[in-house]
Amino acid sequence: MHDRYAVVGNPIAHSKSPEIHTLFARQTGEPIEYTKLLSPLDGFAGTVRQFAADGGKGLNVTVPFKFEAFRLATENTPRAETAGAVNTLRFDGNRILGDNTDGAGLVADITRNLGISLRDARILMLGAGGAAYGVMLPLLDQKPKVLHIANRTPAKAAVLAEAFARYGRTDSSGYDALEGQYDVIINATSAGLQDTMPAVPAGIFGEGTLALDMVYADRPTVFMAFAAEQGACIRDGFGMLVEQAAESFFVWRGVRPDTASVFAHFGR
Ligand code: ATR
Repeated sequence: MHDRYAVVGNPIAHSKSPEIHTLFARQTGEPIEYTKLLSPLDGFAGTVRQFAADGGKGLNVTVPFKFEAFRLATENTPRAETAGAVNTLRFDGNRILGDNTDGAGLVADITRNLGISLRDARILMLGAGGAAYGVMLPLLDQKPKVLHIANRTPAKAAVLAEAFARYGRTDSSGYDALEGQYDVIINATSAGLQDTMPAVPAGIFGEGTLALDMVYADRPTVFMAFAAEQGACIRDGFGMLVEQAAESFFVWRGVRPDTASVFAHFGR
């Protein structure tokens, strides 16, 4: 008998999570089965409850349901609470535990896989939507010198920076006010979906800059290509995806899989 897990979203067809978790299961010997679950846009709660009623043990939650998952959980971890969003659900009887492993995944990819310390770093986050909220607390836990949020709509960046000001030094602005180089620049906007990028000045990137796009694709995003032209080191969101998956696997099974073999499997 295998314990059942799935990733739920809409759309969901292109998710790599089943492949990643199947590799983790094989490597650790944990008896799990992991599939994709398409939820109707107006039927998320029903889809989740049915999966749990059928014996499902846990879910990963992706676009556009992370906020709904947060509200559906009967209890949330502190990192989910501060994000206001959930990407991992665990079913324990009638309890639904909500967690958010996105930020831990991002931090693990930067610090462990790339070997870049975020302590005292100048970090710039582009975007102030759900993706940005999800990673704020784990980034600030690394004690950066500053975490500056820039957004097309500066008022939203100000709200986000203010909401997390008690966890570390945060700051905000629009794109045109940005100046000086940053150590790490994270693209948390959805601009890449329209094959474009935030209108940031070229001077914020330098040869010592890591430019990380939270989305992943077969070819570099517009943001990554622009950053590379300025001499920055670039990274897409695939490493974050694998690391957040490993963290979710740990939440469910209490076993931490090795991610290096998964990167090798995908030729990364
Ligand atoms: P979600 O919560 O799902 O992440 P969202 O709240 O719509 O989605 O946030 C998307 C982010 O991408 C926002 O920061 C948005 O900027 P605005 O707040 O100004 O709307 C940003 N974004 C989307 N398209 C963009 C574009 N073409 N250029 C720059 N920023 C863009």
